[in-house]
Amino acid sequence: MYLFRILFVLSIASLTLGNIFDDLLHDLKAAITCGACHTLAVTLKGIAELGDAALVNSVAAVCKATKAEDDDVCEGTVQEQGPILARVLRNISPFGETSSKLCNIVQLCDQPPINIYTVPLPAPAADIRIPTSQGRQPFKVVHISDVHVDRQYLVGTESECTKPICCRKYADSTSDVRVPAGPFGSYQCDTPDSLLNSLFKQVEASGSAFVIFTGDVVEGMWTPEVGEILNDINTFNDEMLGALQMPVFSTIGNHEAAPANSFPTSDTPAADATGYDAQYVFDAASSEWAPWINATAAEQLKHHSGSYSVIAPGTNLRIISLNTVYWYNLNLWIYDSDEQHPDPNGIMAFAVQELQAAEEAGQKAWIIGHMPPGAPDTLHDQSNYYDQIVQRYQHTIAGHFFGHSHLDQFEIAYQDYEKRTADNAVAVSWIAPSVTPRNANGAFKVYEVDPDTYDIMDAHVYVANLSDPNFDTEPTWHLYYSARETYGALVDIAPSEPLGPTFWHRVTEKFEADDEAFNMYTRFMQRDYDVEPCDAGCKKETICGLRAMRSEDNCVTDSTLAREAKKPGTTPRNSTAYYDSCEGTGVLHILAKAIGAMSSGQVSENFLALYVLTR
Ligand SMILES: *[C@@H]1O[C@H](CO)[C@@H](O)[C@H](O)[C@H]1NC(C)=O
Ligand SMILES: *[C@@H]1O[C@H](CO)[C@@H](O)[C@H](O)[C@H]1NC(C)=O
Ligand SMILES: *[C@@H]1O[C@H](CO)[C@@H](O)[C@H](O)[C@H]1NC(C)=O
Repeated sequence: MYLFRILFVLSIASLTLGNIFDDLLHDLKAAITCGACHTLAVTLKGIAELGDAALVNSVAAVCKATKAEDDDVCEGTVQEQGPILARVLRNISPFGETSSKLCNIVQLCDQPPINIYTVPLPAPAADIRIPTSQGRQPFKVVHISDVHVDRQYLVGTESECTKPICCRKYADSTSDVRVPAGPFGSYQCDTPDSLLNSLFKQVEASGSAFVIFTGDVVEGMWTPEVGEILNDINTFNDEMLGALQMPVFSTIGNHEAAPANSFPTSDTPAADATGYDAQYVFDAASSEWAPWINATAAEQLKHHSGSYSVIAPGTNLRIISLNTVYWYNLNLWIYDSDEQHPDPNGIMAFAVQELQAAEEAGQKAWIIGHMPPGAPDTLHDQSNYYDQIVQRYQHTIAGHFFGHSHLDQFEIAYQDYEKRTADNAVAVSWIAPSVTPRNANGAFKVYEVDPDTYDIMDAHVYVANLSDPNFDTEPTWHLYYSARETYGALVDIAPSEPLGPTFWHRVTEKFEADDEAFNMYTRFMQRDYDVEPCDAGCKKETICGLRAMRSEDNCVTDSTLAREAKKPGTTPRNSTAYYDSCEGTGVLHILAKAIGAMSSGQVSENFLALYVLTR
């Protein structure tokens, strides 16, 4: 350590930074509790106060030394996102609630208790009109999500590289390719244009009335640039417009901004001055989606941070598209202050306004958005407030549709979360599998929709199986399963009963009693790819997650798991795959990996110090 100090001081020529960096190494190693994470926050804040560059350089060095990612991934991610983290750290107390929320992301603190807030809601009218099914022929709607088209996908490059996405030519790519990128896609890679075209053909042939797309056009690159984002959004919409005769109603995903997940909130107006502003995303979406939405909706998109509402043609159904990235725990701008803002950018107020209008007009509504409200990475506060809206408008909302997790899932909301029973179930969210084959076979859903109630009567999932020997010649999207046929066979369901919250609750009861039924669900979730065995504890947690459209109730307590993981002889729960799939590589993700490596003793402080010196 002594040698390190001397050399460090000589090379950096700053005693302050030397000492602080020494503290940082110590704090990373000690970060196994929530309290220790707050101590780490003190040190990181101290570094951030020396300037953005100090934080960027320190975190990048730690990333490389702990091999959290490849060197170029460390550099790129931290260069892009580090300045936002530095700003956040300068603006908050290391011991406050916001700091605890940051520590939750690195899995060391639980999310703080809910900040009680009552969403302003108009009282329901006495005579809300609730249409009943006339038993008419259902119509079809396609649900696609998380396409992540990689415009730099290159056939023949390495598909099993060490970076967050492969199948690209990187500066450090070697010429000996072990597993070459296929013509239509590879596991570990995002969607090539060829697979996207194949998808569009299948969607067009499905005979659907319209498409809902729940976000994430842009590939999972760790250093997206504004020009690239705009090009990705533009190309995707142009191709879709050319390929599909039906309208498409889309939502904004967390990858639709540069840096990824970076959507400054209107509570931090100074964000504009820093050069960060996501308005370009909303402006682009407003013009790109204009062929499918009317002028009112296109204006809403610009002025409500990417949210809008439309009546689906020929229906009495209002589709309300919400930009949910302000409820996402990796949008660093949420943490820019110690003050807690219940409704960043007024997305909930917008939802209430549109739902109230639907209720008054005797319409049904569908909510489409990117973040599933019950997901572990949806902030507890915002999820709790959104749940109040779900409860209030339960008779108007006929469907909730989300993406982001890349997994084929559902989440049930209850009138009373203390009593999660079939009788108490009030709503269900449909979460679409990803189109991108990164970590699972690409898939999409086709719903059968009752034309009077707009309830979902069935969902057919189509999969392009990368393990199919013909996949590299011409992918086929085969019918994988029908939800009504497979799950309906497990519980009694009358032909006229929709696949609503009560039905899905009964399915979860069947899962509890029957391992085979439950295992079928986990296979479906991943489309048969790399299905990890799920033991009794995992099963319990998974079912709890299905019974939670409110994230505070999903049974995921990261800090407990992190502590468990550090006990000798236990296997840490592997959240790496989850984070890699939906979030891309972020600066906090890197810190979490570095903390893991340091605190478990995989990388010693001395090694790290020497590493820093030699670079
Ligand atoms: C767009 O559609 C909504 C819902 O039908 C309607 O209220 C609004 O007037 C329409 N706007 C335009 C410009 O046609
Ligand atoms: C894909 O094909 C493989 C190999 O034939 C098979 O084991 C797997 O079940 C298939 N997956 C799906 C989703 O059809
Ligand atoms: C977690 O997943 C990553 C990526 O799939 C893998 O490399 C790693 O070995 C896994 N860790 C554990 C403990 O299973």
